[in-house]
Amino acid sequence: MWPRRSQESGVRSQEGRVSRPLSPPPRGNDRGRCAAHTPLDQNSLNPRITSSLAEWGGGHGDEGPSWPAFRRLGAILLIAILLLTTACYQQQMGSQPRYDPLEPSTLFADGRSARQPLPDTVARGQLHEDTLLYAGTENGLPADRFPFPVTHDVLVHGQDRFDVFCSPCHGRTGYGDGMVVRRGFIPPPSFHTDQLRQAPVGHLFEVATNGLGAMPSYASQVPARDRWAIVAYIKALQLSQHADAARLPADLQQQLEGAP
Ligand code: HEC
Repeated sequence: MWPRRSQESGVRSQEGRVSRPLSPPPRGNDRGRCAAHTPLDQNSLNPRITSSLAEWGGGHGDEGPSWPAFRRLGAILLIAILLLTTACYQQQMGSQPRYDPLEPSTLFADGRSARQPLPDTVARGQLHEDTLLYAGTENGLPADRFPFPVTHDVLVHGQDRFDVFCSPCHGRTGYGDGMVVRRGFIPPPSFHTDQLRQAPVGHLFEVATNGLGAMPSYASQVPARDRWAIVAYIKALQLSQHADAARLPADLQQQLEGAP
């Protein structure tokens, strides 16, 4: 039976193994059916398998089953179990008994599958009790100090973040002539006015946090500590354009006086 079959639809390799072309994938209604549930066709079994079955059944006289036969049978069982446990359940992952986001539900009176959080629920890691750090306020007023020491590293980081998030409108030097403004966006005020120079740092932080007028909020894009670093850099920008010569070191003051 086997040789004839392999001549028709298969290829016999040098070792005498028979390999048949793969059957096409199931279509239409057959899609969900599990191959392991179709009854086994004796003829479709590999000759090695049938021979080991014969050995197991005592096909070679009184000797009884040999160890290789045991091992082959074990392998067959293992493959059968794997097929039963894996192949059959694949399709069930496509329709899981759960709700998709915003899917309606008849279970709850309000018809929604998602529940509203209880009043005053705070997500993990979002209990922002430190108003100075997160709101820029102290006792309900804009703070006039930073929540952490302003070091050189903080300024360097602030410059980097300012150039990314603020300079498109405020310009690299803070004069309010960024690229977006040059292409028609509402111009923001220059940072180099008496009013913004004297504004408490908490006010600058608060504007970056909540936005103002045409300026959007940056709270979701720039973390609180980064916003403070940006504010520190804005103070440095302001100083760069409006420094008090009397605060310079003596040697630099002399150089300045000697300059034309
Ligand atoms: C899309 C353009 C745009 C970007 C980007 C932008 N701003 Fe503004 N900003 C504005 C505009 C417009 C105003 C003027 C708002 C008003 O007075 O109505 C403004 C005003 C301000 C003011 C002055 C507030 C006052 O009291 O007058 C500060 C401070 C400020 N922005 C900080 C920032 C910081 C910090 C960033 C970056 C995190 C930033 N801005 C990014 C457009 C922008």
